Amino acid sequence: MMIRRRYLLHLTLWIPVAIIWLMPAAAQCRQAAPLPEGEGKDLVEARCTSCHNTGAITRSGGFDSPEEWRAVSASMMPLPEDEADIIANYLAAHFPARTERHPTLVDGPVQVDITEWLVPTLGQRSRDPIEALDGAIWWTGMWASLVGRLDPVTGEMKEYPLPPSARPHSIVPDDEGYIWYTGNSNGTIGKLDPETGEITEYETEAGDPHTAIFHPNGKLYFTSQRAAMLGRLDPATGELIEVDTEPRPYGIVIAQDGTVWVAYNGTNKLGAVDPATLEITYFTVPDPRTRIRRLGIDSEGMVWFVNSSLGRIGVLNPETGAVKQWDSPSGPTSHPYSLAVINDKIWYNESGMRPDALVRFDPETESFQSWAIPSGVGIIRHTWVTRDGDLLIHQSSSNRVGRVRIRDIVN
Ligand code: HEC
Repeated sequence: MMIRRRYLLHLTLWIPVAIIWLMPAAAQCRQAAPLPEGEGKDLVEARCTSCHNTGAITRSGGFDSPEEWRAVSASMMPLPEDEADIIANYLAAHFPARTERHPTLVDGPVQVDITEWLVPTLGQRSRDPIEALDGAIWWTGMWASLVGRLDPVTGEMKEYPLPPSARPHSIVPDDEGYIWYTGNSNGTIGKLDPETGEITEYETEAGDPHTAIFHPNGKLYFTSQRAAMLGRLDPATGELIEVDTEPRPYGIVIAQDGTVWVAYNGTNKLGAVDPATLEITYFTVPDPRTRIRRLGIDSEGMVWFVNSSLGRIGVLNPETGAVKQWDSPSGPTSHPYSLAVINDKIWYNESGMRPDALVRFDPETESFQSWAIPSGVGIIRHTWVTRDGDLLIHQSSSNRVGRVRIRDIVN
């Protein structure tokens, strides 16, 4: 069934509403923690707990200098100078850098240039950047229920408000210039017309669309994590079909042969979905503790994945079902999260580390190389490969979207 609703939206009206209403609920998954006594404690409690509780600070990687804490605070919210000073001094005194969360960075032959942009609305948890047909970079700000457009040449940005209850988890462009989003909180797949700001919504049965991708057949395939369902929407007809699947389907990609591959964050499996029948063939990854967030396909059709719960990356041969895995440089708590394959090299991040680390794995030499993400206060949750072979990244806490230019070695 398809339900269409249309919205004409006014940015200035909806952004504050979205921030006040939607953030605390989303932040409840983190436990509050008591703060040590000292000048600045009250101010931190007053200013820094409207979007998340104190646990975000006590469990963070910490920083040694007030300057670094000041920069982090500034990427969270605007503060008057005197308050910013008191907060930064207090946090540096009580929450210095915790070396156990530092990534193990590995040197190597490849050079990267990382550019990051601070998005306009703070606290939106910018994520899941994509490249549109015209070369613009789009992202979604889940906690402020918006999508944004960045011109990477001029740095100019524009934010488009979505229905406040949508809280888009992920976005994907189509071939006609529309931006499609997964309305994770209002159970819709939405289509934004960037020219007019007009939005068309398709209501799902699952209720929590998570990640979506277009198939060469023109249809949109998506996961719904909590509902444990997979969906397919045909934009041409509005037909929407959903099927049950294993717990917590997460990342979704399309292989060259048209198979739709799904990663599971609730079980140690990968799923191969027939795009026509939605029939799913499951492949088991050894160790029941395995949880997989994202995956990618190389030129041979091998399925690469992050083993987030065990701090590994791995590859599945769909012909034989054989799986091979490697420990990520920062070890079992490194929590590899996003993944992309570029020229048969594997790019992922160690989201459990602070700073978040970008890692390149070369399957030929079985060697790693890694870099600290400059504003690395947060997590890359999803990446995108541009037509030029750049990797689009983001940091959800520091409100950045970024681009990684890769000067790879020529074999
Ligand atoms: C407008 C909303 C907002 C306010 C106000 C806010 N934050 Fe945050 N903060 C966020 C969001 C969003 C995240 C990311 C949460 C996530 O991705 O799970 C975050 C995460 C963090 C993290 C965790 C980073 C990590 O290592 O993962 C720290 C530290 C932090 N905030 C510090 C602060 C401090 C200090 C203040 C007060 C000066 C503050 N925040 C106020 C929105 C806010």
